[in-house]
Amino acid sequence: MTIAWWKQSTVYQIYPKSFNDTTGNGIGDIPGIIEKLDYLNKLGIDVIWLSPVYDSPQEDNGYDIRNYRLIDELFGSMEDMEKLLEEAHKRDIKVVMDLVVNHTSDEHPWFVESKSSKDNSYRDYYIWLDGKANGEPPTNWGSIFSGSAWKYDEPTDQYYLHLFAEKQPDLNWENPELRADIYDMMNFWMDKGIVGFRMDVINFISKDYPLEDGKVNEGDKYGDPGPYFLNGPRIHEFLQEMHQEVLKGRDVMTVGEMPGAAPEDAKAYTDPENEELDMIFTFEHMSLDQHGGDKWNLKPLDLRELKENFEKWQTSLHGVGWNSLYWNNHDQPRIVSRFGDDQEYREKSAKMLATCLHMMQGTPYIYQGEELGMTNVRFASLEDYQDIETLNMLKEKQELAWSTDRIMDAIYTKGRDNARTPMQWDTSSHAGFTSGTPWLKVNENHRTINAEESLNNPKSIFYYYQKMIQLRKDMDVISKGSFHLLMRESEKVFAYEREGDQESLIVLCNFSGDEVELDSDVVERIQGASVLISNEDGSLGRGVLCPYEGSVYKV
Ligand code: NOJ
Repeated sequence: MTIAWWKQSTVYQIYPKSFNDTTGNGIGDIPGIIEKLDYLNKLGIDVIWLSPVYDSPQEDNGYDIRNYRLIDELFGSMEDMEKLLEEAHKRDIKVVMDLVVNHTSDEHPWFVESKSSKDNSYRDYYIWLDGKANGEPPTNWGSIFSGSAWKYDEPTDQYYLHLFAEKQPDLNWENPELRADIYDMMNFWMDKGIVGFRMDVINFISKDYPLEDGKVNEGDKYGDPGPYFLNGPRIHEFLQEMHQEVLKGRDVMTVGEMPGAAPEDAKAYTDPENEELDMIFTFEHMSLDQHGGDKWNLKPLDLRELKENFEKWQTSLHGVGWNSLYWNNHDQPRIVSRFGDDQEYREKSAKMLATCLHMMQGTPYIYQGEELGMTNVRFASLEDYQDIETLNMLKEKQELAWSTDRIMDAIYTKGRDNARTPMQWDTSSHAGFTSGTPWLKVNENHRTINAEESLNNPKSIFYYYQKMIQLRKDMDVISKGSFHLLMRESEKVFAYEREGDQESLIVLCNFSGDEVELDSDVVERIQGASVLISNEDGSLGRGVLCPYEGSVYKV
């Protein structure tokens, strides 16, 4: 059986605002992406996932859309977008766009109409409810971006739901007219030549009615709305309908962003027989360094938990569905700072982390700058932070009497601006990102960490990623083999086997700055085996792993 092309592809995520600015206004743009297509082609990626470039007031950097069929002037024009598609296709690169349809901007004409009166024909495009008899919001829910999830509208004396910011009202997917409008818009983009969508929080779209108060967890002010919107009762029906109306018969790639999806959910979403999506983004592995559901409530990672989590996902989807593989995106801190060492072992740990992820089953995603080993940032002044989630959290945690040190530590460790600092192209004053003033400060370390340096250094992280991308195409075992965890009890080593019909791989990754002895059965297995790829050239085959070593053996 042939393997679907997206199973051997690697996707590169571009966050346009921070990628490359050609106008000098300090904001990245579409012509800036076109300018860097040869760079991406050199890396060898197959698909670009473009974070939103649609017309938007930019309250949440484009995840608040005002017009789905217009390109935001900040990023260029529709002609620029068409040119990007054309130029990408010339280089055999496919483009996937972000689809944000759990909510729109409150400036979207649908919402403007909806808000205008209770009997407007668009009223039902959003979720409006009366307050409680005591005048409180309809439920006690907290928004994901802090504060209440409901906003009162005085003229119509009702509340609308916003799971994210106030300016991001949730759409009402119960309404068939809304759904038809969305499918129409998706077809508009597919007809322009994109190959698919990354679907923003798509497992949030089916709400479980009636909406009622959620549980208030200890230390929280608001109730948890999760049970009322995660993987809701009509979600599969909606996705199947979307498949029929838009995706069926087209050669596409779809990935649903799905916080709160477990492997059983993922199977249902991605089993080709169900005709829903090709793969999802899961979140469990990104929540192991926090206490409970609060990402700001930090906890050190226990590597054994990370290994078991991957094992669970790798084995349960094998032969049924499919998954995406990621360490980074525009919402996550930089992986080399998070699970690696962004100081002494920056290059080594960045390569080790790439090894660990890219040898698994799934479609890998590289987030801009990951291929350079870009790190988290520490702005001394809070004024330099731009992200709405961070700024809202600051207010909320101050109210909860968190100390300034604790808040700053949380921002340095988890804040989304870590991922959003401009791409580091060279050593010049704004890292070659803009000739003007960047919308978000560049990381000072661009003087040593940048694309120019990487391209000139044959041993760079960039070329290591290039090799990883090629290996996935060359070796079926990477997409097809089964997964077996090795050295389960080790707190420092993440080791696994990928077993195929013809060949197997043993992947050994040291997540620590110490030398670590390998278990004897592993040493036996790799005796005489050839090294497929490694970030270490001195000490292979000694029965120990060097600090942050990542090596793959073909057995
Ligand atoms: C998930 C996106 O990745 C994030 O950046 C955004 O803020 C929320 N969804 C709301 O759209």
